[in-house]
Amino acid sequence: MKLSIKNIHRFVNENEISALKTKAEKSLKMLHDKTGAGNDFLGWVNLPSQISQSEIDDIQSAANKLAELADFVIVTGIGGSYLGAKSVIEALSHSFGNFCKHDKHPVVIFAGQNLSEDYACELFETLAGRRIAAVVISKSGTTIEPAITFRLIKKYMENVYGTDAASERIVAVTDKERGAMNTIAKKNGYKMFVIPDDVGGRFSVLTPAGLLPVAIAGFDIKKLVEGAADMEKATDANVAFEQNPACIYAAARNALYQKGKYVEILANFNPKLHSFAEWWKQLYGESEGKNGKGIFPASVDFTSDLHSLGQYIQDGKRILFETVLSVENPKHDFTVPFDDENTDELNFVANQRIDKINKCAEQGTILAHVDGGVPNIHISIPQIDEYNTGQLIYFFEKACGISGYMLGVNPFDQPGVEAYKKNMFRLLGK
Ligand code: PA5
Repeated sequence: MKLSIKNIHRFVNENEISALKTKAEKSLKMLHDKTGAGNDFLGWVNLPSQISQSEIDDIQSAANKLAELADFVIVTGIGGSYLGAKSVIEALSHSFGNFCKHDKHPVVIFAGQNLSEDYACELFETLAGRRIAAVVISKSGTTIEPAITFRLIKKYMENVYGTDAASERIVAVTDKERGAMNTIAKKNGYKMFVIPDDVGGRFSVLTPAGLLPVAIAGFDIKKLVEGAADMEKATDANVAFEQNPACIYAAARNALYQKGKYVEILANFNPKLHSFAEWWKQLYGESEGKNGKGIFPASVDFTSDLHSLGQYIQDGKRILFETVLSVENPKHDFTVPFDDENTDELNFVANQRIDKINKCAEQGTILAHVDGGVPNIHISIPQIDEYNTGQLIYFFEKACGISGYMLGVNPFDQPGVEAYKKNMFRLLGK
């Protein structure tokens, strides 16, 4: 993974970033020494290097078992119990995989991430007559969206397969002893995995909450963890600021925030990264948006959104900065054909790879946006695969922890998400 902040220097000079160096290093140290706010939720810091081969094997064998039993696996969860798995599976999957399945792995369908009656009903319409299995993920075991969805799935599966056979097809990922989901799983003899107490939802993608669905979808979870473990080393407490990408990114975005750049847009030029940005938004939004502070995390899919939000980014209120997540090499090699008639006047790109045109769009966009007053941070990976996705995950997690401490908030709580729940439960008469 490469990080460049050269395109922010027109807006914050090197001295202003260096002035934040000590704060970034101190924040990094607080993560490792566990001396900052929320220090009982720092299990993710050394998670990649601590995952054992036997844990990976256990997850893989549960995934293999479900894959043998089912063509469709419904993964139920919301927030941190959903976005990580979704983002990795989408990044690694064939763009049209659900229409032209290339391998024997089951299709992973996500549910429990909303309260739409239509979504629920259409899910069961889709499942009718298919071989299915289910994974229910909820750390607290009490979140209403996945709890309701799982009640529906459990009843459906028990009707179709009978209670005992349904239990063979259900895996629960939850707290080791608390919560309704733990009770249900034990009562019904489901295979269970634990989300550790000291890993919060949005930092849990490298626990079974993320690894199990990714393994079911047929991806190499060992490589994902290896990528993350290498990034753990590269951003360790003893790595100096100048070499530490997590510190540099955290310092750069805080320097921009101090200059009134209150919105960070994560931009990709590859639709496979759409859900990765959704995961990133939760990570940064829930971690930093509190006490009246925080950079608002937004995202765009380019070039699609150049034809919509591109106007605002270029010309709207100057409170934005952009972080481009770039992929150096696509998986395929595909060129624009030459056309004798050239009626569409496209022969100027004939025989060029689509990716070359995409890269020109990327460079052109960055130049235009920087000229328009939008500072740019550039992050690139050689290709989208398990290893590089693991690197990105840990990089963003680490930078998020550092950045939150630099901002002066507890990056590991989320008191704000309770407000809507209180109102909803009151309205429901709970
Ligand atoms: O980051 C978080 O803590 C939240 O987004 C949770 O992951 C989300 O609310 C789901 O919680 P649970 O896993 O307890 O069902």
